[in-house]
Amino acid sequence: MLSLNRRQFLAAASATAVTSMSTPSAFASANDELRVVVIGLNGIGRTHLNGFPEVSGVRVVGACDVDSAVLGKRAEEFQKKFNRKLKTYNDMRQVFDDPDVDAVVLAVPNHWHGLGTVWGCQAGKDVYTEKPCSHNIWEAGQMEKAAKKYDRIVQVGIQRRSFTHLKDFFQEIQQGVLGKVKQVKGVYLTRRNSIGRPDAALQPPATVDHNQWCGPAPTKLERANYHYDWHWFWEYGNAELGNNGPHILDLCRWSIGAEEFPTAVTSVGGRYVWDDNGQTPNTHLLRYEYAQAPITFEIRDLPTATGKKDTCKHMGLSYGIVVEGEEATYVGFDTGKVIDPQGKTIREIKGTTGPDGGRQLHRENFVKAVRSRKTSDLNCDVRTGHLSTALCHLGNISHKVSDTISLKSLPERTQEQPLVNEAVGRMQSHLAANGVDVASAHVQLGKTLQIDPKTETFPQDEKANGLLKREYRAPFIVPENV
Ligand SMILES: NC(=O)c1ccc[n+]([C@@H]2O[C@H](COP(=O)([O-])OP(=O)(O)OC[C@H]3O[C@@H](n4cnc5c(N)ncnc54)[C@H](O)[C@@H]3O)[C@@H](O)[C@H]2O)c1
Repeated sequence: MLSLNRRQFLAAASATAVTSMSTPSAFASANDELRVVVIGLNGIGRTHLNGFPEVSGVRVVGACDVDSAVLGKRAEEFQKKFNRKLKTYNDMRQVFDDPDVDAVVLAVPNHWHGLGTVWGCQAGKDVYTEKPCSHNIWEAGQMEKAAKKYDRIVQVGIQRRSFTHLKDFFQEIQQGVLGKVKQVKGVYLTRRNSIGRPDAALQPPATVDHNQWCGPAPTKLERANYHYDWHWFWEYGNAELGNNGPHILDLCRWSIGAEEFPTAVTSVGGRYVWDDNGQTPNTHLLRYEYAQAPITFEIRDLPTATGKKDTCKHMGLSYGIVVEGEEATYVGFDTGKVIDPQGKTIREIKGTTGPDGGRQLHRENFVKAVRSRKTSDLNCDVRTGHLSTALCHLGNISHKVSDTISLKSLPERTQEQPLVNEAVGRMQSHLAANGVDVASAHVQLGKTLQIDPKTETFPQDEKANGLLKREYRAPFIVPENV
């Protein structure tokens, strides 16, 4: 607590300095090294630790993790690969207090993205934060305010935004290359497993500072696999929808140039087959209303059928989008194709995706903007990341204000929404193939929530408005006044 107060004091002091500082900053020159620390190292943080040193003019100077085993392992791997010792930190506040750090990469779980970004901006650091942009809609607004107030460069890790071939082609879609767009469908069809039901006496690994890992969230532990499986608990993760949804829904809304919140959202879903502690749906169907065209999104974490290892496909895609126009249809993910009404490929959409699934291009773009000090140089600033991430939060909010109904009756209940209705049939047969008895099973039918894109709230639903923000556990509180 003491250290936090001191940090906040320093942040406020440095904020004054930052706002009064004339840009470009000290390392704007191509010759100056940008000193980066990666925070959160277990999964994707490892690829950032290996990728950022390859960006011209960047020096990764440190690494931070609250799991000493992960921190030690990554520091050792780095030394072996780059023949250089990293400074290590076990509390991100130490990184923000370090004057020898210019920028940070936040590869920590979702519940830390908002607070980490606000703290980073307050301390005068530029921030590359992983997707989803935030854990809830309100804190994304605070991130935007902090980036602006402290004049910081903040990139969100939705890396396909750095694919120029998609940028160019999506512009063509908006100019009518497919004819009028009738609908956009996103799919994320994968295969995952049950996370089990560990007993109540579960303890965090001895190497982890659990209080800090939890940060803004409660400290109750209900998962045996400490890292990664937090995605399936609402206090830390945002379901598959907020895990891989930001990538897919970003492509959906980008393709049609939907640059604000939708006007309504509907969710249908549930967690099937697995008898485990996970809270989030493993089968999820979403629909968003936009003036340009409606977007639907299908998520399945179960295989094609019981005992199978393969994942479902829709129009040949396990992950990606289908943009259905009146004259032609685009089907793709990193790259794609345009097909005519007979299904014949009439054009390939290709381009440079670079190493690490596009992340290297995205890192390069971040560094370019850090040097130019222009947020407009970023391919995915907080606003862009927020709009795509908000689609995930909106869908999860509809799911949380749902009714439990019988799965069998679902087609009747969704008949007024033909696009959802069409996907409901696929959902029912997929669940049946996975051993779910459709006649007796239930499903959560989310309320169709009307949204005011101007205020980014639900004008007719106080319960849903109550889910725009979380309760923060002191002292890990995203401030009202950043
Ligand atoms: N852009 C992409 O394609 C992509 C891919 C994978 C993951 N991600 C995102 O990256 C984030 C991390 O995902 P992951 O799969 O690596 O998760 P993970 O659980 O495997 O690793 C997270 C690491 O962060 C550490 N950590 C937690 N709280 C911390 C804190 N306060 N300070 C320092 N370290 C802390 C944990 O100890 C752990 O080592 C998630 O938000 C995820 O959505 C993005």
